[in-house]
Amino acid sequence: MGSFMETIYEKAKKSPQKVVLPEGNDERTVEAAVKAAAMGIANITMIGDPAKMNEIAKKKNLSLDGIELIDLKNLPNLDAYANDFYELRKAKGMTPEEAKKVMSRDVYYGAMMVRKGLADTFVAGAVNTTSDVSRAAIYLIGMKKGIKTLSSFFVMILPDKTYGKDGVLFYSDGGFVIDPDAEQLSDIAVTTGATYRELMQEEPNVAMLSFSTKGSAKHARIDKVTAALALAKQKDPTMNIDGEMQGDAALVPAVGAKKAPGSPVAGRANVLIFPDLDSGNIAYKLTERLAKAEAYGPIYQGTARPCSDLSRGCKASDIMNVMAINVVRLQNMK
Ligand SMILES: CC(C)(COP(=O)(O)OP(=O)(O)OC[C@H]1O[C@@H](n2cnc3c(N)ncnc32)[C@H](O)[C@@H]1OP(=O)(O)O)[C@@H](O)C(=O)NCCC(=O)NCCS
Repeated sequence: MGSFMETIYEKAKKSPQKVVLPEGNDERTVEAAVKAAAMGIANITMIGDPAKMNEIAKKKNLSLDGIELIDLKNLPNLDAYANDFYELRKAKGMTPEEAKKVMSRDVYYGAMMVRKGLADTFVAGAVNTTSDVSRAAIYLIGMKKGIKTLSSFFVMILPDKTYGKDGVLFYSDGGFVIDPDAEQLSDIAVTTGATYRELMQEEPNVAMLSFSTKGSAKHARIDKVTAALALAKQKDPTMNIDGEMQGDAALVPAVGAKKAPGSPVAGRANVLIFPDLDSGNIAYKLTERLAKAEAYGPIYQGTARPCSDLSRGCKASDIMNVMAINVVRLQNMK
C-alpha cells in the first residue's frame, strides 16, 4: 500500500465516522467491517441476516463485537421509511406497495439511514448492481447544492512522482456517466475539483481533456468540452480549471507552455477530466497497467454526502479503502 492510503488511514482514525454496510451477508463485507472497526477508522452498522453474519465471522475467526447488526427481515421503522420514500417518489409514479418493497432492500434501507442521519455514509455494490446502488444514492442521499450529476472519480497513484501532486492524480469520470453532455461534464469537472480539495486539502488544477488543445482542431466533440469549461467556470469561479487540452499539454510543463501558453493549468494538472466514459475508463486502466499505478475507485461524488459503489469483483481491502477515503471526505466536509 502506497503512502497515499497510509495517510488516509491515519487521518480516518483521528475521527472515525458512522458507516453502514448494507451487504452484511457478503463475506468480504464482514471481513472489511471487522478490520475497519478494529483499526478504528469507522463505527460500523451492517445490514443482513444476523445468523449468517455471525456464521461468516465465526468461519473466518473474526469477532463482530462493537459492530451493530440490523436484521434485514426485521428492519426498524420500515413502515415510516417506506412512507417517506413514497412521498419522495410519488410524483414519479411510485406506489406505497412498491415503496415498501424497495425500502425492504438492504442498499435502499442503508441509504435511508444516511438520509436520516443514523449513518454518515454507506458503501455497497459488492452484491448489488450499479443501477441499484446509484438509484439509492440519487433518490435518498440526493445531490450537492448546485450539482445535478452523480459521477465517480479515481485516485491514481503513480510510481513516477513527476506528474500531478507527487504522482497523485484524480481522474473522472472513468466509472459512471457514459456519455455526458456539456452540462453534465461541467458538473463532473467542478465536482472532481471539489473532491480533490476535500481529500488533498489544497487547490486543484483541473484539466478538461480533449484531442485538441486550445482550438488546434475543430469538431463538435471539442465544442462540448469548451462549452463544459465555460459552464464549470460559472459554477465555481474560484476553481483553477482550463481546457480544452491534450493529455501531454495537461501534464508536461514544456508541452503545456508551447501548446497552451499562459494557461494556469497546462503542465501542472492534478485533476484530469475525460470527455466521456470510454476515454476515462480506458485511461485509468492503461495508467494502472502501463504506468504501474495504483487505482482507488471508482468512488461516487456529487452526492450531498459521500457514498460509494463497489465492483462486484472487489476484495475486502477495496471495501476498506473506499470506507477510509469516504471517512476522510466526511471529516473535511464537517
Ligand atoms: C442511474 C441509473 C440507474 C438510472 O437509470 P434509469 O432509472 O433507467 O434512468 P433514468 O434516466 O430514468 O433516471 C432515473 C433517475 O435518475 C436520475 N439520474 C440518472 N443518471 C443520473 C446521474 N448521473 N446523476 C444524477 N441523477 C441521475 C434521473 O434524473 C432520474 O431522476 P428522476 O427519476 O427523479 O427523474 C442509470 O442511469 C445507470 O444505470 N447509470 C449507470 C451507468 C453505468 O452503467 N455506467 C457504467 C458503470 S461501469
